[in-house]
Amino acid sequence: MLSKTMVDALNEQIKVEFESSNIYLQMAAWAAWKGYEGAEAFLRAHSEEERMHMMKLFGYVGETGSLAVISAMEQPKSEFDSLASMFKQILEHERFVTGRINKLVELAYEEKDYSTLNFLQWYVAEQHEEETLFSSLLDKIELIGHDGRGLYLIDRELGKQAAAHAAGGE
Ligand SMILES: [Fe+2]
Ligand SMILES: [Fe+2]
Repeated sequence: MLSKTMVDALNEQIKVEFESSNIYLQMAAWAAWKGYEGAEAFLRAHSEEERMHMMKLFGYVGETGSLAVISAMEQPKSEFDSLASMFKQILEHERFVTGRINKLVELAYEEKDYSTLNFLQWYVAEQHEEETLFSSLLDKIELIGHDGRGLYLIDRELGKQAAAHAAGGE
């Protein structure tokens, strides 16, 4: 049985993951609108992944006999200056999410809630993976992605990553 504080905190994280999914879906729409097909595929796949993060939390809250609650979500931003600035915002957002996960871990420690602590380990690893992925992508974009040809190469690279992901890779 989870404490009320823990259920509220997990429900808050459901919102954060859902919002992440919406943010990346909206970014996918922007990428498509700008003609970045690779980025669109990549962002769509990432949006799905965030939905999976949300569903995992949703499942855990329910399994522990508590009520998962979906709350109102913020409307994602729909305009971006460039692909580089969009990816910068993604990295910032992932850092924000990592901070939220860390807060949940702290709460689980404080409450000696070892089941939730164990459950959260997956998110700790996942955030590490995502921050690494997005910071390396941002490095690449900043290195080669500022002119037409560079952006074309970046978009192709993002498309390849999305295809590899769809084929079952990470
Ligand atoms: Fe996530
Ligand atoms: Fe994420």
